[in-house]
Amino acid sequence: MKKITVGTTVTIFESLSELSPLHQKLMEEAKKAVHKSYSPYSGFRVGASAILDNDEILSGANQENASYPLCLCAEMVVLSTISSDFPSKIIRTMAITVKSAKNVIDMPISPCGACRQTMLEFENRQDSPIEILLMGETGAIYHLESAKSLLPLSFDGSVL
Ligand code: THU
Repeated sequence: MKKITVGTTVTIFESLSELSPLHQKLMEEAKKAVHKSYSPYSGFRVGASAILDNDEILSGANQENASYPLCLCAEMVVLSTISSDFPSKIIRTMAITVKSAKNVIDMPISPCGACRQTMLEFENRQDSPIEILLMGETGAIYHLESAKSLLPLSFDGSVL
């Protein structure tokens, strides 16, 4: 018997001003994107932005449904646009943030498991890491070097 440890490395920036100008801009676009959210049920407006290798920035927000399982996460919305309209472009970095109707979220929000697996699919497809920036409405920003680092021991399509 043996044990292994799987983990990840997160770089923490205390404020937006500590990020590179490009990453600041990307997070600002994610913050703007929360206004695209349709979230009457949760009041949890998630914004996601992505910068491509042609420097284009796209963004999306969560879209809810009275039948709750049909809700679309912000990450899925922006990734679907990229897959449909920019299938040959590389995603360099994604930024994800939130604005809740209930309270100010002052710590980074973390993508759900389904979004992590979807981001990993894009990363594997483009054969290049997608950097991830996570932020609440205020507070620190987490930086991860890849989608894979968000999903240790991930399911890997190479076994199929
Ligand atoms: N949500 C996202 O948009 N992304 C995530 O990674 C987690 C959750 C949305 C789905 C739903 O509209 C709301 O947040 C509350 O779960």
